[in-house]
Amino acid sequence: MDALRFLLDGEVQTVTDADPTMTVLEWLRTRASRTGTKEGCAEGDCGACTVVVGTLAGDHITYRAVNACILFLPMLDAKVLITVESLKREGQLHPVQQAMVDLHGSQCGFCTPGIVMSLYARSIGATGDMPPADVLAGNLCRCTGYGPILAAAEACPPAALDDRETIEALKTIQRDDVLELRHAGKSWFAPKTQDQLAALLIDHPQARIVAGATDVGLWVTKQMRVLPEIISVGDIGDLATVQESEAGLTLGAGVRYSDAWTALARLHPDLGELVRRIAGTQVRNSGTIGGNIANGSPIGDMPPALIALGARLTLRKGDVRRVIDLEDFFVEYGRQNIEISEFVEAIFIPRPDPRFDRLRIVKLSKRFDSDISAVCAAIALRVENNIVIQARIAFGGMAGTPKRAAAAEAALTGQLWSQAAFEAAAQALAQDFQPLSDVRGSRDYRLLSAANVLRRMWVENGTVLDAEPINA
Ligand SMILES: Cc1cc2nc3c(=O)[nH]c(=O)nc-3n(C[C@H](O)[C@H](O)[C@H](O)COP(=O)(O)OP(=O)(O)OC[C@H]3O[C@@H](n4cnc5c(N)ncnc54)[C@H](O)[C@@H]3O)c2cc1C
Ligand code: FES
Ligand code: FES
Repeated sequence: MDALRFLLDGEVQTVTDADPTMTVLEWLRTRASRTGTKEGCAEGDCGACTVVVGTLAGDHITYRAVNACILFLPMLDAKVLITVESLKREGQLHPVQQAMVDLHGSQCGFCTPGIVMSLYARSIGATGDMPPADVLAGNLCRCTGYGPILAAAEACPPAALDDRETIEALKTIQRDDVLELRHAGKSWFAPKTQDQLAALLIDHPQARIVAGATDVGLWVTKQMRVLPEIISVGDIGDLATVQESEAGLTLGAGVRYSDAWTALARLHPDLGELVRRIAGTQVRNSGTIGGNIANGSPIGDMPPALIALGARLTLRKGDVRRVIDLEDFFVEYGRQNIEISEFVEAIFIPRPDPRFDRLRIVKLSKRFDSDISAVCAAIALRVENNIVIQARIAFGGMAGTPKRAAAAEAALTGQLWSQAAFEAAAQALAQDFQPLSDVRGSRDYRLLSAANVLRRMWVENGTVLDAEPINA
């Protein structure tokens, strides 16, 4: 059995006696006496528990703000952890802390450490050119004092971090082989390669795969589920690749939203906007596209968009791979087309052809930021000489699985690009779906808003395109 090792304030922490599903938040507060990191929701929503985690990537460190409340402790192995206590140096507040004080960015103060850590991540360049409001979308302040907080962000522009010592220290705790932890009847395996993952899943068919733990974390913190065997895929380099080609985009299942974002936005701007609307920065820094698909939720945001684009999934079991259309992965609510010991290896998304393809992806949720969809709609139409020759329309939130709208597609296919065709498709949705009413939206709201997304596509594009034949 191995020991878990990570860096905290320049010191290597070695942990041998922790439950593999202990969260980083719990460890900080109960074992390390670091109570600066707060627990607000314990489900990744509020950002009060934000910490920064750095991963060695070649000769530099990739830093990410993440939610400690749903991050399992072994996920820190070979990484550096930075908490709010790490920021004050020689009695001096960090500039982002000072800016929060000077600009009155803190009221009750409970959310403040998490906000400071998100701003710290930005100050060391971890969020690129993301606007401060997006950087902070995963940090809720119930006092709603966002104006001063945004002002504090603006006061601290990103600057490079001198982390040469940390890089050298991290190199001493890297691991070449599978991490294997055992505690009180529970096991945690963290392979480094896909081949090791494939072999482990054959040997441990009941093991639960964990990628970013932004779904699985909540099973533990909210549902109190016990996970006796876990295989973590977060350290598998060859599962986290992004390959762009003329034909399309291939994403390894372990690619995090943050790392897929730019390539997805290049494929189509609506895909980029969709990623911006998925959770907040901390969840996008952990959560993976593969996890979103494999989780099989009817309200996962990526599946409708990827189904409309005609994405294909590669599944692997041992050395055997099979490729299926993504839409065939979702069998019924809670059941996916995946075997025991099989895992999602990659997703291929064909590149839309700007000469012929019209794409619109719309997420409808109660809050703009950091909210789950009531309805997620994706419409991909191929139009030649003003005739819709192919329609792929998929919805989330309308059925027990992400699902294509066969009747609406039929109403558009072969038709002239016209308001009448869009109206017929909008009406046909009632044949495709009998949605449920729940806390996110009533049945009627869902049906009407889904139909309105089709009408909106016409309003936004219709008349412009109608003026001259498309692709003529
Ligand atoms: C606060 C918050 C906000 C959220 N907002 C959104 C949102 O706006 N839109 C949205 O769609 N989702 C949202 N989610 C849900 C979640 O972030 C996504 O579903 C995410 O993509 C899950 O990825 P993960 O890597 O964290 O998966 P995990 O939690 O690690 O795993 C999820 C499931 O996938 C399985 N799995 C993971 N990888 C593989 C693989 N390679 N092969 C086979 N099985 C695998 C796991 O066994 C598990 O069953 C939110 C979650 C939180 C906590
Ligand atoms: S405690 Fe709310 S996101 Fe972690
Ligand atoms: S300062 Fe009160 S919740 Fe943020």
